Amino acid sequence: AEREEALKERVRQLLDRENAVLVAHYYTDPIVQALAEETGGFIADSLEMARFGSRHPASTLVVAGVRFMGETSKILSPEKRVLMPTLEAECSLDLGCPVDEFSAFCDQHPDRAVVVYANTSAAVKARADWVVTSSCALDIVEHLMEQDKKIIWGPDKYLGSYIQKQTGADMLLWDSSCIVHEEFKAKGITDLKKVYPDAGVLVHPESPDAVVEVADVVGSTSQLLKASHELPNDTFIVATDRGIFYKMQQASPNKSFIEAPTAGESATCKSCAHCPWMAMNTLEALVQCLEKPDALNIVEVSDDLRVQSLKPLQRMLDFTA
Ligand code: 13P
Ligand code: SF4
Repeated sequence: AEREEALKERVRQLLDRENAVLVAHYYTDPIVQALAEETGGFIADSLEMARFGSRHPASTLVVAGVRFMGETSKILSPEKRVLMPTLEAECSLDLGCPVDEFSAFCDQHPDRAVVVYANTSAAVKARADWVVTSSCALDIVEHLMEQDKKIIWGPDKYLGSYIQKQTGADMLLWDSSCIVHEEFKAKGITDLKKVYPDAGVLVHPESPDAVVEVADVVGSTSQLLKASHELPNDTFIVATDRGIFYKMQQASPNKSFIEAPTAGESATCKSCAHCPWMAMNTLEALVQCLEKPDALNIVEVSDDLRVQSLKPLQRMLDFTA
């Protein structure tokens, strides 16, 4: 605890010295989220993280999240220095969507609008017509349907399938998934409901279809957070990264939050309800990136890529403004 205090104090000093602001995702360690809050930074979903960073006057953004979030911040704020505790904080969706293969897939269907999830590399965004996050994907797909557009959707097949069912849109889905959300099990949730019959079930749409079907509310991290506060239930079973419990508990101190069951009995499942890449955002790594940033801390996006990827990103920001 003493060491933790010392590290937190060091981060506070360094943020100050570097004219930097800390922006953390809801899935990071509660210690990091609390530090962001306390130092005038921000905790948010991937969409709001990007928006906050571009509007904040600090000259350095420290993005505690995963690599695509740092890249998005850099694309929106090229004049700022963007640091991350480590660029090795990846995302299985990003890894599952290499730009060459995805581009070739798009080239085969030139009549379709290309819609990609924010959880992708800058290069994949640059190939897209629209970027979406889970908080605006439904609205944007509905908007495209109004224009009779057929869609290529990448990379999350579960989110894609959820949106397809909700909207009836004509969508070709890329085959990738989030290693955290795909582990949730519908049977585990319905079993748990027998123990807590009054619990509300909150599910992020990166989860498999069967899990989405047992949900009371399906939504992005910020939508689930809102639901946990606004619904009358005292208890919630939550199928998303447990990092979100920090904010849920803060908004509703008298409610109880329970992790949705995963296939967690297996020794190979190290990511049950917590993203291993989000977990790389430690206090030690925060100190290091501010004290002595190296190539694994400094987010760079080439000018070409930045210009190309900004177009679909800006479309999303304008649409959701
Ligand atoms: P949102 O923050 O957009 O809900 O996305 C969740 C996610 O995939 C972050 O890892
Ligand atoms: Fe990617 Fe899933 Fe981790 Fe989010 S929780 S960063 S979608 S692997």
